[in-house]
Amino acid sequence: MKRVLVIYYTQTGQLNRALRATLAPLENQPDVSIHYELLKPTTPFPYPWSYVKFFDTFPETVQGIPCQLEPTTITENNEFDMIIVGYQPWFLSVCIPVNSFLKSDLAKKLMKNKPVVTVIACRNMWLNAQEKMKRQLLELKANLVGNITFVDKAANLVSLVTVLAFVLKGVQTKYLGIFPKYGVAETDLQNAAPKYGATLLKHLKSGDYNGMQPALNASGAVTVKANLMLMEGRGAVMFPLYANYISKKGSAASKDRQTRVKVFGIVLPTAILILSPIITVASRLAPLLLPKRMKKEIDYWSQNTLR
Ligand SMILES: Cc1cc2nc3c(=O)[nH]c(=O)nc-3n(C[C@H](O)[C@H](O)[C@H](O)COP(=O)(O)O)c2cc1C
Repeated sequence: MKRVLVIYYTQTGQLNRALRATLAPLENQPDVSIHYELLKPTTPFPYPWSYVKFFDTFPETVQGIPCQLEPTTITENNEFDMIIVGYQPWFLSVCIPVNSFLKSDLAKKLMKNKPVVTVIACRNMWLNAQEKMKRQLLELKANLVGNITFVDKAANLVSLVTVLAFVLKGVQTKYLGIFPKYGVAETDLQNAAPKYGATLLKHLKSGDYNGMQPALNASGAVTVKANLMLMEGRGAVMFPLYANYISKKGSAASKDRQTRVKVFGIVLPTAILILSPIITVASRLAPLLLPKRMKKEIDYWSQNTLR
């Protein structure tokens, strides 16, 4: 019997749908058992978010400060053959609930020397969150053997609008009737996800994970887009600085830092709005001017080791 643990967090269920679609090929296997463990913060994060709460969550997310979680149904005595970690990037970092689990003693015991597969369902920016995930897994002495991503494939500025309507207003249909629906496309869940699952199943059964990520990539599990890679690079440098700037004024939800939080809430979307077209042009030129460098970067983000 091969035992699989799926540890995840989701607010609106998007990631849950992605996980279930991916793991469908494992579900009916007589020799595979899957345990789903939904992480529950003791103080739940709201959905939809208020404008202030959403941006007030930024500093602690970027700084990796954990929150309190409800006890899980698994204990350190449970043994698993494969652990799947499902998470959303929040502000180019691992979302607080999943990051909090990774910092727990339970994670230390459960995940040591275990093969881990990450499954991400997000807007479109997951590279730097996954980089933080890689570091956490290294600390836990876990082996990251696979990464599967689901993104909103709309143009970056379109999904910027629709994700803000989705998280701040709870809009789960076509915003204003003209924007596309936010999120991972149903067709990706129906067509691509089971292919990823079939690859997972094959390697789970053999216990040999060599060649798994290239096989996943070949069926579309990871696509690194040059414009988003360059955009994230800017954010990854600026975010820790701004997170410190806000948290110097006070801790989470403190009134003293509200002005800085609100300014950030205007600066961030504005910066994306201004930088997006510039970076898109740069990302078209970069492969022409620096073809080797760009290929090397894209290859780096498509695999599971740290530089
Ligand atoms: C606080 C917060 C920050 C987010 N930051 C990012 C981000 O940096 N990159 C990204 O691609 N999506 C980001 N998203 C979107 C989420 O990845 C995800 O699409 C959304 O939360 C819905 O997923 P869920 O229903 O599974 O929770 C963010 C969402 C929230 C709530």
